Amino acid sequence: MAGGTGNRMAASLPKQFIELGDRPIIMHSLSKLLESGCFDAIYIGIHPDWADYMKNLLYSARITKNAPEIPQIHIIRGGDDRNSTLLNVLEAIESDIRDSITSDTAYDGSDNPHVEEFDPIIVTHDAVRPFVTVKMIQDSVSEAAVHGAASVAIPTTDTIAHVGSQVGTQIGTEAGASDSPDLGESAPDQPFTSAILDRNLLYNIQTPQSFRLSLFRQAYSSLSNDQIAALTDVCGIFAAAKIPVKIVPGSSENIKITNPLDLELSTLIYHA
Ligand code: CTP
Repeated sequence: MAGGTGNRMAASLPKQFIELGDRPIIMHSLSKLLESGCFDAIYIGIHPDWADYMKNLLYSARITKNAPEIPQIHIIRGGDDRNSTLLNVLEAIESDIRDSITSDTAYDGSDNPHVEEFDPIIVTHDAVRPFVTVKMIQDSVSEAAVHGAASVAIPTTDTIAHVGSQVGTQIGTEAGASDSPDLGESAPDQPFTSAILDRNLLYNIQTPQSFRLSLFRQAYSSLSNDQIAALTDVCGIFAAAKIPVKIVPGSSENIKITNPLDLELSTLIYHA
């Protein structure tokens, strides 16, 4: 997943292309994926303005399409948001599968062959998580093979509050009721907590996230457009469709580089 342009990082180029040590961030992530040995093919979702830049990076690293020792690498047009990029990539994969089936002389002509190799496990990974490990990738794939869907995650260390949906909502009262608290001068736009969630039941979701393609399509087709618009990742899509996703242990180093502070942290992790 490399179709973003890194608005929060506010750098001169999308954050996945910022150098970390000897290479751009995305090349660290890609190296780990290749090293895992898990993949028949890799699809990189890229904003169209940066597709040539990505191709040049692969070329300079001598990772070119169809090199015999590595999987095929395809550059796919990213979408307006992360899930649109994912959908573009999945469509490209499905199209390639259809092409490979119909060019297979053993193909019997059925529309929907239920053969394992035609229902691959897809692994999605944020390009800006360069500290993913080979074990996380491999475990994510093997758990998805058993359970249908798996996501790397870590138990949360923060105390997380649920807040009332309306500003000024106090527990047990209606917003705007006469006993609403006096918000005074400070932070008038901030809500009140309605519950402190049980930390033992909370995880921070990371990537890789892996799933059987057919299970994803089943989950996705059960959701409304409003649900889809509110979701940012595969875990959210499966959760909304009430399909459980198996947790795979991640690490606090497997950060998503989002803002300049994360970049400083990533330099520390890289040199540790
Ligand atoms: N991503 C993507 N397609 C998009 C948006 C995001 O593939 N349209 C990818 C990003 O490139 C990144 C990952 O999803 O690797 C996580 O997204 P995020 O950290 O939000 O990246 P950006 O969208 O680039 O950042 P920002 O929201 O600050 O613009």
